Amino acid sequence: MKEVRIGVFGAGRGLNMVDQIIFGAEGKLVAVCDKYEPLLQNCKRSAEAAGLTDIAYYTDFEEFFKHDMDAVILANYAYQHAPYAIRLLDSGRHVMSECLTCATMKEAVELIEAVERNPHLIYSYAENYCYTAVRLEMKKRYRNGDIGELMYAEGEYRHDCSPIWPQITYGQKDHWRNINCSTFYCTHSIGPILYMTGLRPVKVSGFETPNPDYMWRLGTASGGAGMELITLENGAILKSIHGNLKHVSPSNYEINGTRGGMRDLSDGRVEIYYEGENENGRGKHDSYSPAPMIAEAENSGHGGADFYTTHFFIQSIMGNEEARKHSIDVYTAVDMCIPGILAYRSIRSGNSSVDVPNLRNKAERDAYRNDTFCTFPSAAGDMWVPNNYHGVDTPPESVYEEVRRRFQAGEPG
Ligand SMILES: NC(=O)c1ccc[n+]([C@@H]2O[C@H](COP(=O)([O-])OP(=O)(O)OC[C@H]3O[C@@H](n4cnc5c(N)ncnc54)[C@H](O)[C@@H]3O)[C@@H](O)[C@H]2O)c1
Repeated sequence: MKEVRIGVFGAGRGLNMVDQIIFGAEGKLVAVCDKYEPLLQNCKRSAEAAGLTDIAYYTDFEEFFKHDMDAVILANYAYQHAPYAIRLLDSGRHVMSECLTCATMKEAVELIEAVERNPHLIYSYAENYCYTAVRLEMKKRYRNGDIGELMYAEGEYRHDCSPIWPQITYGQKDHWRNINCSTFYCTHSIGPILYMTGLRPVKVSGFETPNPDYMWRLGTASGGAGMELITLENGAILKSIHGNLKHVSPSNYEINGTRGGMRDLSDGRVEIYYEGENENGRGKHDSYSPAPMIAEAENSGHGGADFYTTHFFIQSIMGNEEARKHSIDVYTAVDMCIPGILAYRSIRSGNSSVDVPNLRNKAERDAYRNDTFCTFPSAAGDMWVPNNYHGVDTPPESVYEEVRRRFQAGEPG
């Protein structure tokens, strides 16, 4: 393929991808869709600044869908990616999906099967937290055997979104950020660990903090932190935590193996302790700043990570095997997401341990084919469960009116 013609669906987060495509040398942006016009205008301003006037802008997805394009980047609502991905794949388009992969186990099965029935198309998951220079270095050294076999890992993504809540939920009572469960947005804490180690989750127990008042006053009854304690396929344990916690350090990625450990120091450096054979306790400590895998990525968002997802997606479509190797395929994308869905099931049954299926195996799929358990009414049907396990009252309408006012006035949460 000479030039990949790309559409972007969702122009909030999607503006990042729009900018990367129009200011970079890869791909050709042909269409953008968002029902909220001011976001489309932002994209238009960017495109015009790059001298591009031939891009189509749509507020209606059905019109956007008809546009002649090879690939679509999904940056729409986080719980609606799978149905759109499936439709787009079946219409012959390559798909890159923002986080998360899917809202239910049923969607996980359906998404995998859509990718399998379109083997000539690329599906790629934009789990950008995997791609900072430090986390890529941790992957390289783990795969090189430098710290031995994984025993324990921590993935922590603490992001107190309360100051920006009006700007990211717009005061909409049913915005996904208000109605998701505590363990839904698990990808940034689980994802990097799975990507570094190549290991698959096999069991999960879920936990959640109480819902803090500062989040209730912004419109959610489930705005605390969710935690997944996961057993990986080699028996190692992964602790994953994420949510609106007040914090000193927003993230932590650490892996401990049989011959050493590594952690992301959150300042551009990786710290490593590694032992040779028969050197128990007599290994070496080192810390250093690894260079980015691709220099161009250095100043991109999320600590130089954002560049890679779109880059690897476009390059994979162009047939670049190396890029495909670095991309996240549908099976790993599902592994990074479904522990969060199943962890909420665990929370609702007293933190019991729940099996995480390997949906690569066709035989394991039937048990989940009709499983729509989740907190999103449109995806759940009759398996809907509330996101409010602690019995917190749902915020009254006056809360949303105030958040809407702050959104319109540009005031913080
Ligand atoms: N990887 C990251 O670091 C990161 C950061 C921010 C957001 N995200 C992801 O990006 C996605 C978008 O998040 P966001 O922050 O922009 O907020 P959001 O989810 O509120 O934005 C979704 C956008 O899609 C548009 N949209 C949804 N359905 C539509 C439809 N049927 N027709 C037309 N427009 C439609 C909405 O108007 C909205 O502007 C989410 O999946 C989120 O998880 C990822």
